Formats: sequence, structure tokens, C-alpha cells
Amino acid sequence: MMVRRGLLAWVSRVVLLLVLLSCALSVLYMLACTPKADDAQRGLPRANGPTGKEGYHAALQEWEEQHRDYVSSLKRQIAQLKEELQGRAAEPPRPDLLAFLRAQVDRAEVHAGVKLATEYAAVPFDSFTLQKVYQLETGLTRHPEEKPVRKDKRDELVEAIEAAVEALNSPAESGPGQRAYTAQDFVEGIYRTERDKGTLYELTFRGHHQHEFRRLVLFRPFGPILKVKKERLDMAHTLINVIVPLARRADKFRQFMQNFREMCIQQDGRIHLTVVYFGKEEMDEVKGILENTSKAANFRNFTFIQLNGEFSRGKGLDVGARFWKGSNVLLFFCDVDIYFTSEFLNTCRLNTQPGKKVFYPVLFSQYNPGIIYGHHDAVPPLEQQLVIKKETGFWRDFGFGMTCQYRSDFINIGGFDLDIKGWGGEDVHLYRKYLHSNLIVVRTPVRGLFHLWHEKRCVDELTPEQYKMCMQSKAMNEASHGQLGMLVFRHEIEAHLRKQKHKAGSKKT
Ligand SMILES: *[C@@H]1O[C@H](CO)[C@@H](O)[C@H](O)[C@H]1NC(C)=O
Ligand SMILES: *[C@@H]1O[C@H](CO)[C@@H](O)[C@H](O)[C@H]1NC(C)=O
Repeated sequence: MMVRRGLLAWVSRVVLLLVLLSCALSVLYMLACTPKADDAQRGLPRANGPTGKEGYHAALQEWEEQHRDYVSSLKRQIAQLKEELQGRAAEPPRPDLLAFLRAQVDRAEVHAGVKLATEYAAVPFDSFTLQKVYQLETGLTRHPEEKPVRKDKRDELVEAIEAAVEALNSPAESGPGQRAYTAQDFVEGIYRTERDKGTLYELTFRGHHQHEFRRLVLFRPFGPILKVKKERLDMAHTLINVIVPLARRADKFRQFMQNFREMCIQQDGRIHLTVVYFGKEEMDEVKGILENTSKAANFRNFTFIQLNGEFSRGKGLDVGARFWKGSNVLLFFCDVDIYFTSEFLNTCRLNTQPGKKVFYPVLFSQYNPGIIYGHHDAVPPLEQQLVIKKETGFWRDFGFGMTCQYRSDFINIGGFDLDIKGWGGEDVHLYRKYLHSNLIVVRTPVRGLFHLWHEKRCVDELTPEQYKMCMQSKAMNEASHGQLGMLVFRHEIEAHLRKQKHKAGSKKT
């Protein structure tokens, strides 16, 4: 039974196969030997071709040619349209207009500093990255830092970055095999608008090598963007001499050295530290901290200078700056209550140039953490406190104490006015001298430089007028307007909460 059923299945399979085979053969025959009339019927030429096969071949070729013609005609049309479009978009400005636009660049403070009478005449920059804009003029939102979400601002900055990327990748510049630049290489930029001339952009990109940067200077003279300058900047050998004047405050210095060790020694590695110490009090402790850090991190690039007499910030910085004996060096004047990141160190390098440019960053001043976070116990670690928000601090746009400048410029302009004693005054004086000079003063808020909160004491020796000003300054450093309001209206708020509680309680019973 089993055998017979198996045989039957086999036979039927063979029959099916045979039928399929003969079908295939007849189709093949039809294809190969159809009469020539078919060709004519399809309206194809070659009715008199020698064999059918060749006829088909020729027909196919013809079809292909027709298609190719059609495609190339389309391509031509597209190219034509593109040309027309481009012609419309980038129609070269008339020569006199172009000359006018170029003249606007020359009139603006782009190539050389413009002498200014006072600090009020200085036009500060804003700074930005791909993610954020750091702005002194906070407008309606009051945010010191903003995502460039506002479409107007985003379009403007993105257009500048795109123009810069295009210039960086221009064929004359990039050799074969060279990686192309993209927006992702953008590190940071600064920009400012002179209302009667236009907007200046200085955009910094990562270069192809370590410590190398590319900078594009662009100008938008209330017209199309113009390229002003393209530079390659190698910062591998740009040493920064950080100068810190100090008297007592050993605890603050310990905190400073912690930050210094991480940012300057571990991350940057192109730094010298000069501490100018006044008096003898707490000196051994400060020296001990310095020596301990030096041993632990194998760091030898420091100088400790001890001075007698009353503390004078100007004198300390002046002595520290002049003490340097090597070739010209970039100086960073820094206080002990300042926190900075390693990015800031590059920003400092990139915004200075001997004989040309000095850098006056606007730092972010932290409010009293005890007030920001409600209670001293709720204060997070320092790194987490350093966020740029309107509740956490403000741009210290009246401060000129932290600055980066080459030693040669500092000496040439005459250094600090040493008649000014104590804190304050000497820095504004130096800043004004630079404004009066032919050097470019770059003034911009920066994301990596913070003034840490510390209690401000208004001493009894002050005159009533000075005391009042001191208290006003103290209030400004303490908390935002809104938070101070919560303190002023404390009783009203507490009374309100009591009433609410009472109401809730009486409803329950
Ligand atoms: C120390 O200074 C030298 C130049 O004087 C420099 O080459 C070196 O990188 C510096 N080291 C650190 C850790 O900053
Ligand atoms: C320096 O290190 C030594 C040994 O670790 C320690 O005893 C000393 O207190 C440290 N000095 C300072 C000022 O921190």
C-alpha cells in the first residue's frame, strides 16, 4: 500500500514537471522566432532586421537612447533653473555699493582699536556657542543665558556660522584628504553691533591639531555678510601667567588652589602661577598650601612674592606682572574668590594679542547660596552651583578686575596707578587707559568665569554716604530682586500661610 501510494505521487510529480518544461520551451520558441510583423505592430523600426533577436536588441538600444536624451534634457533644465536662482540670490552688489559696505567694515572697530572717552561708550560683545547665547542685555526674558531658540537670533547666528564653515572649506584652503569643517567644530563666538555700521562676528573653530584653532572674522554691514579675515591660531605654546594678589584669606586660597589644580595643572598644562602676598599673617599656611599642591601634582611653575605693608591690589598685580623675566607672556589678573574653567583659559588666549587686543571678560557673579537654595543645608557642591540663571547670579558688568593682557601691553600702557590703595578703583583706571588707546578692548560675558559669593562687610569707618553705597552693593550681591522681595515681605507671606492653614483646618472639623 505504502509503496504504491509513493509511486503514484512520484509519477504525478514527473508529469507536472514535464508539462511545465514544455510550456517553458514553447514560450522560448515564441520569443526567439516570432514573426517580424510584431515589430511593426509595436511601431518600432527595424521591420527588415535580419533576425528577431537582433531586432529586439536594436529596439532596446533605441529605447535606452531616448531615455538618456530625456534625462539629459531634464538635467539641462535643472541646471538652468539653478543658475537663474543663484543669479537672483547672490547677484553681485553694484561696485559702488560693495565699496560702501567695505568702508563700513573699516569704520567699525574691527582691525584696530577706536579711542573711547569713557567706559560708557564701549560696546560690549555677547558670546555664544551652538547651544547658548550669553548676553548682557537680557531684554524681556531677563535671562543672562539663553538657548538661541528665538528664531530671529538663531537664524542670524546660524547664518554666520554657515558662512564661516563655507569659508573654512573653500577649495583654495583645504588640501586633498583634508577633513572638511562642520558646525560641530565651532567652539565659541562673540558678536556685537555698532548701530551705524553693522555687526562684527569673531568665530572660533577647533583646528585639525591639538591646541590649534581657526578663527573667522565676519562683518554684516546691514547687508550681506562679508569675510574680513581667516586665521590659524596655534595656542600650544601660549603660556598664561596667573597673578593672584593676596593677604590672609588662607581658607579661600585653599579653595582656589583646588580649582587651579584641576583646571590649570591637570587639564590645561600651559600655566605659571604668581602669588603676591602682603604681610606675614597666615603666610606660612598659604605657602604650605602652595607647596603641597606643587608636590602632589608635580607642578613647579609658580612664584611666591612676599611684600610688606598694607594690602594694595594694584601694587600686587603690578609687582607680579613686572617680576616675570622670560619673553613676553600672557597675564591673567585673578582674585582668590574667582572660579574658572579650562575653557576660559583658551578664551583668554583667543581674545588677546600683543600690541593689538586686551580681554576684559564680564564674569558671572554668584548670589548668596544660602538664599538661592533656601537654607544652608540645602546648598549643593560648588560645581553644581555654577549655573548661569537669573535666580543664581548676575553679569558683573561694572567689574574690570579680572583681565587677560600681554605683559608688553601692560608695561607700555604704564601699568597700575599705584596711588590707589586697597580694593577698587585701580582696575577701572587701567581699563580706561586701554579704552583711550589704540588697542581693541574685547568686553564680553563669558561662561567659564565666576565670582563666588562671600559676605560683604560694610565697616563702621565709612562715611554715611560710603556706607549707604556699600549697603546697596551688598544688596545687589546678595540675591535677585524677586528673592530680596520675598525677604522684605516675609511677614506678609507668613501671615498668608497661617490664614491658609487655619482655613484648611476649620474645613476638616
Ligand atoms: C610650565 O612652564 C613651561 C614653560 O615655562 C611650560 O612649557 C609647561 O607646559 C608648564 N607646565 C604646566 C604644568 O603648566
Ligand atoms: C601639607 O601636607 C602635609 C602632609 O600631608 C600636612 O600635614 C599639612 O597640613 C599640609 N599643609 C597645608 C597648609 O595644607
